[in-house]
Amino acid sequence: MSRLFHVVEAQQFDPELLTRIFQMAGEMEQVVQHYGSNILSRRVMASLFYEPSTRTRLSFESAMIRLGGDVITTENAREFSSAAKGETIQDSIRVVAGYADVIVMRHYQSGASKAASEVSPVPVINAGDGAGQHPTQALLDIYTIQREIGHLDGIKVAMVGDLANGRTVRSLCYLLSKFKDPVIYFVSPPVVRMKDDIKEYLTRHGVMFQEVEDLYDVTPIVDVIYQTRIQRERFGDRIAEYDQARGKYIIDKSVLDTMQDHAVIMHPLPRVDEIDPAVDQDPRAAYFRQAHNGLYVRMALLRMLLGGR
Ligand code: CP
Repeated sequence: MSRLFHVVEAQQFDPELLTRIFQMAGEMEQVVQHYGSNILSRRVMASLFYEPSTRTRLSFESAMIRLGGDVITTENAREFSSAAKGETIQDSIRVVAGYADVIVMRHYQSGASKAASEVSPVPVINAGDGAGQHPTQALLDIYTIQREIGHLDGIKVAMVGDLANGRTVRSLCYLLSKFKDPVIYFVSPPVVRMKDDIKEYLTRHGVMFQEVEDLYDVTPIVDVIYQTRIQRERFGDRIAEYDQARGKYIIDKSVLDTMQDHAVIMHPLPRVDEIDPAVDQDPRAAYFRQAHNGLYVRMALLRMLLGGR
């Protein structure tokens, strides 16, 4: 049976471990309804965030507190931790590991969490590393798909938007490949197509995927539209490329009209203008339920990492 220690990349999870995380997340929903637990009392979580976050940082911190643990945090570590004085990630992690039982880290460089995990005696959780991965987001995404659609085998997902810079879609591809016969449609402007390493991985693992230009070709057939934001912050001074990418695929009422009744719209959030707020009222808009599921999944991870199950 696989045991969790570091959570660095989505590939590390196998179906058996995913089943256990989902079962535990279900238990955590009950824990929240009953006003929390003390199972992690006297345990400390450090959250080190070198990039902005609302959902990931606050849901991890809420998860730890709801399980009776404590939190130490730096929400702008790039500026307000000793990284600003030139300290390496490795040295920061060696030090923080002496203060905390688990470290949740978001960083602007792909691979930073892996580097941290290589020197850390306590579990490191990757809370997003540049344009690399966001494995806990992918866990809550497939938990959401399971809950909303009722199955993961044979699932048809359209990933839409900034697929080149989106770490959530990369991690989600890795996790979907753990299930039977998924079909993935990549719908993106040409300048932000899904990168070759993911397409090669999917091919090696026998996952069907297709690159599509017209969103309306797939909206009537998919179970999930997974919309993403065009990430302005990843373009630097490549303004012309950003302008080519933005505003191409907007989820609005005309998209809703073509979707199946059981299908859902998901988004890792934050959104800017890629989902019309008028869509929020439709029961198929699952993105706020998805964000709430992050609490249960992250409680489950902390419980399994620190609570002995
Ligand atoms: N989905 C997500 O990672 O959101 P935050 O950037 O707010 O954490």
